[in-house]
Amino acid sequence: MASKEILLLVLCWGLVVLATTSFGANVTYDHRAVVIGGKRRVLISGSIHYPRSTPEMWPDLIQKSKDGGLDVIETYVFWNLHEPVRNQYNFEGRYDLVKFVKLVAEAGLYVHLRIGPYVCAEWNYGGFPLWLHFIPGIQFRTDNEPFKAEMQRFTAKIVDMMKQEKLYASQGGPIILSQIENEYGNIDSAYGAAGKSYIKWAAGMALSLDTGVPWVMCQQSDAPDPIINTCNGFYCDQFTPNSNNKPKMWTENWSGWFLSFGGAVPYRPVEDLAFAVARFFQRGGTFQNYYMYHGGTNFDRTSGGPFISTSYDYDAPLDEYGLIRQPKWGHLKDLHKAIKLCEAALVATDPTYPSLGPNLEATVYKTGSGLCSAFLANIGTNSDVTVKFNGNSYLLPAWSVSILPDCKNVVFNTAKVCLVSCIMIFSYTNIKADEPLLEDGSKTVLHVQSLGHALHAFINGKLVAFAGSGYGSSSNAKVTVDFPIALAPGKNTFDLLSLTVGLQNYGAFYEKTGAGITGPVQLKGSGNGTNIDLSSQQWTYQTTFDAPAGSEPVAIDFTGMGKGEAWVNGQSIGRYWPTYVSQNGGCTDPCNYRGAYSSNKCLKNCGKPSQSLYHVPRSWLKSSGNTLVLFEEIGGDPTKISFVTKQLGSSLCSHVTDSHPLPVDMWGSDSKIQRKPGPVLSLECPNPNQVISSIKFASFGTPLGTCGSFSRGRCSSARSLSSLLLQACVGSKSCSIGVSVNTFGDPCKGVMKSLAVEASCT
Ligand code: GAL
Repeated sequence: MASKEILLLVLCWGLVVLATTSFGANVTYDHRAVVIGGKRRVLISGSIHYPRSTPEMWPDLIQKSKDGGLDVIETYVFWNLHEPVRNQYNFEGRYDLVKFVKLVAEAGLYVHLRIGPYVCAEWNYGGFPLWLHFIPGIQFRTDNEPFKAEMQRFTAKIVDMMKQEKLYASQGGPIILSQIENEYGNIDSAYGAAGKSYIKWAAGMALSLDTGVPWVMCQQSDAPDPIINTCNGFYCDQFTPNSNNKPKMWTENWSGWFLSFGGAVPYRPVEDLAFAVARFFQRGGTFQNYYMYHGGTNFDRTSGGPFISTSYDYDAPLDEYGLIRQPKWGHLKDLHKAIKLCEAALVATDPTYPSLGPNLEATVYKTGSGLCSAFLANIGTNSDVTVKFNGNSYLLPAWSVSILPDCKNVVFNTAKVCLVSCIMIFSYTNIKADEPLLEDGSKTVLHVQSLGHALHAFINGKLVAFAGSGYGSSSNAKVTVDFPIALAPGKNTFDLLSLTVGLQNYGAFYEKTGAGITGPVQLKGSGNGTNIDLSSQQWTYQTTFDAPAGSEPVAIDFTGMGKGEAWVNGQSIGRYWPTYVSQNGGCTDPCNYRGAYSSNKCLKNCGKPSQSLYHVPRSWLKSSGNTLVLFEEIGGDPTKISFVTKQLGSSLCSHVTDSHPLPVDMWGSDSKIQRKPGPVLSLECPNPNQVISSIKFASFGTPLGTCGSFSRGRCSSARSLSSLLLQACVGSKSCSIGVSVNTFGDPCKGVMKSLAVEASCT
């Protein structure tokens, strides 16, 4: 029945052509774009920081980035990992920068190498090795000879290493850009004239290294020629470079935001992220980088501070575990295709801005040779507006951009997400632990002052009962605590354990912020103030476990534990702190994406532990006999620890309105031939070896809810959709069906309708 009405599309799997690694191109730039091998390019880039995942994960992360439509992978270089002790280098394992760059090249993608060597990045001490701090007379990031000598030495070391491996594009390698310093312009006023001369020196030093590819400085409006100044932020459409000979580039488009212990979990709606990207290309940009495309994990003690969590998930298109996050990844992939359809026009000319009305903006890229691409934006936050452009009408939802590669047909609108979200499932396994933790103590006052970040007090070997710990927060790291204690007759022993939760990584003179107990440390109410020697006390728990079966990513759920650090088979998986709970108020889920985003606009998980799951990379596990070592500082119950695997669920959902554009995939170079009537709902099983096995829900009309909780709305087609979809989809890996009243009948005339489907894959 109705087989003609069903637009059944077979996805063709082209032969995957292995990209060769020969880039061999001269990289320059001009007013419009980065120019590679003589060709101006529109480039979509994404950040993946190599030490925030494992070499075993890298090929998959890079492939998923390529599949998502990226051309470039951006990474910082982390000085403190590579030179933990002065003149002793480490480029092994997760620190194998050359291997990472070569893997990106093998996938056929370019690299933007942001050497810094100051990187910020929520990374311990902003990436600077701690030994730097102890060089006599040193002052960081200013016109200071000891600092400049060390910065130059490390930068030159990295550049030489890349050159030796022939990794610059000028040598046939993938590196098309390099960055020196990082957002110095945000804080340079604090350094006065010395800051100005430092930036000139940094530019000259970088150029003298002769990489053969352009250098950039981000957030540096006075970047000396020929260094390109670039923009960082949630929006960069209003940015202009400091010379008409430089292209408009965006080095950090924050795809979400980082998490702090004690904070709620930030997320950025994809409608807003896509809006920001489209606005940037609309207003003349040609290079854009997602910070982060994969955030990953702050293993070991690499997280910056104060109080940056171990997870650096960032709400990025690839989640902490490297799984595709929908609908973010898929919606951006479609956006990238839409932008690429405009590439020829975008690089050929400057845009013009025909007037459209208040809060509206039309931008046209039109060449003498007949190319024409346009962007139509509604930057109003409340109302959808129908506009007239070139004699046609277009409905522009509030806070959205429509992309018209031929100046006529809309292939993509940033607010129209096809909501293809695969449900994520966590499976739990419990482990056995060997022993319980601490007990108590009590009274008199032990007064301690500390610059932060956390502090535990012990008396006679026991954590002071009830209030034995104090800690600061990401906005105020200082800790002043009055511990009530009871002294035993005779000799008493006090132990104060002071902990850092990531050294400061941002701000003018940030290296002077410090951490740790400053004093005074006093015994109050027991006569004179008393100074007490510091010493640390630790409890170590070791337990063995078998790895959860399968190949899915693994995490430990530390619910039940206090605060500490954990090692699996000798590898530090980072700090855990499940008892640090975020504030109760301020969460909005779902969050209205309309209007300017900021890092605390959309928060989840209020009143719950900021982080209870901690990633254990699969490659660190054996099938059995793994050792988990816990350094627990507060106390907890290791029997409550469980192992979790994270998997893409077997459910997949799509939700498409009858006003969505035709999928951008179906747009051919000859748009007239390729264009089919109306939008299309597509389903595709997440794993290559699965097929669609059943239709759990289908409704055409005004369905409600989201994936996993769809329900019929007031208006719903009477036709049996399940049998239509059964015929079109069940037994196939993927299927598509036209969303129109021709297929489903019109259950409510004059109302905007949509098709929502949830299917199972097995
Ligand atoms: C930027 C900085 C990045 C990162 C980001 C926030 O200012 O350049 O390194 O810290 O903020 O995630």
